[in-house]
Formats: sequence, C-alpha cells, structure tokens
Amino acid sequence: MLGNCFTLFMATMAVICSVGSAYDPDPLQDFCVAVDDSKAAVFVNGKICKDPKFVTPNDFSISGLNRVGNISSLVGSAVTKVFVDQLPGLNTLGISLVRIDYAPYGLNPPHIHPRASEILVVMEGTLYAGFITSNPQNPNMRNKLFAKILHPGDVYVFPKGLIHFQYNVGKGNAVAFASLNSQDPGIITLANALFGSEPPLNSDVLAKAFHLDKKIIKYLQSVPWMQN
Ligand SMILES: *[C@@H]1O[C@H](CO)[C@@H](O)[C@H](O)[C@H]1NC(C)=O
Repeated sequence: MLGNCFTLFMATMAVICSVGSAYDPDPLQDFCVAVDDSKAAVFVNGKICKDPKFVTPNDFSISGLNRVGNISSLVGSAVTKVFVDQLPGLNTLGISLVRIDYAPYGLNPPHIHPRASEILVVMEGTLYAGFITSNPQNPNMRNKLFAKILHPGDVYVFPKGLIHFQYNVGKGNAVAFASLNSQDPGIITLANALFGSEPPLNSDVLAKAFHLDKKIIKYLQSVPWMQN
C-alpha cells in the first residue's frame, strides 16, 4: 500500500516536473497570441498572451515571403524568418517557417537549431544539403555525414540539434522553404559563434580545438562574421 502511494506520488511529481520544464508546449487554449513582453516585469518560458478580445486575423498572418532575401552577404544566402517574433500568433504552437534564398554558390553555413528539427523543400535551383551526426558512442565510428544533391520538389529533413547546411551548386539562384517544430528554433552558426563571439573566446582554446596556429585563429577572430 505504502509502495503504491509512493509510486503514485513519484508519477505525479514526474508529470508536474515535466510540465515545469517543457518548451514549445501543447497549447492549453485555442491560441495565445504573443505580446511584446520586454516591458513585462516577469520572464516566462515563451511569451505572454494577448487578451483574446483584442486578437485580430493579422496576429496570425505575415506577408512578403514571395520576395527574394538580400543575398549579397559574404556567404551569399539570406534567411527570411517567420518565428514568434515576426508572427505573434505562433506563440505556444511549436511551429515556424523560413524562406532561404541562395546566390549561385551561396551557402547557408553549418549551423544548429537547438530547439527544432527542420523539414526543407527546394522550390528552385540545385542544393547540396546535409547534416552530421553527434559524437559517436563507438570511438571507431566517425561523426557521420548524410548529404545529397536536391532539386526542385525534393525534401530533406535535418534532425533536431544536429549540424546542417545547404550549398547552392547550381548556376542560378536557389530558393527553399523550411518548417521547424519550434516557435523560436534558435540558430547557432558555428563559425560565427566560435570566431565571432563577444567578447572573443580565448585563442588558445580555439587553437587547440581546431589544431590551428594561433595566428590563424587571431585572423579568424578579426574578420566580420555577419548573420545571413
Ligand atoms: C544587403 O546586404 C548588404 C551586405 O550585408 C548591405 O550592404 C546592403 O545594404 C543590403 N541591401 C539591402 C537592400 O538591404
């Protein structure tokens, strides 16, 4: 009897704890349109809901995804985001969208979404796209690359938290759309984060990690790392 009570107690605690630490939770109401919470006195895991009385169709809508992004950056790609900051109606729904434009040989550089898997569909052009698995359990296995060439209509999925990229290997521009299962997937562009951090990461750390001369690290830390 005592054992059963204890099991029930532990199960209840597990449920409470898992709710407490959840992210992109299932909504507890039809919607929870985000309001700008920067002025709010409390931090919440997500955004505060707008009073449903004042919600309008525009809270669920955004325009402009027919437009080509600015692909004149150093990497030759542009990501147009539709995350909760751009579309407040996404709050609590666990979903978002991007449009990605690529100049010829434009690259969406190796990056991670810490909170989302991504499913991408190519609309135009030819992309070389892939991801790399995490550090292997078996030390004889390498971090495995899964990559292939994609044409219009082809779909590729990038599992949550893994390093992935797309590279335009065609002669013209390329366009893809992708959906992510988070209202705010987060983006860690590896080169930018490691060589462009503010303040700069100790160059000994980077020299050792990359097996590179410190002069090369200093150079990499001196060049601009723009977000695409
Ligand atoms: C496009 O990006 C480039 C480089 O980042 C910048 O110099 C330029 O002003 C941008 N153009 C537009 C129209 O935003």
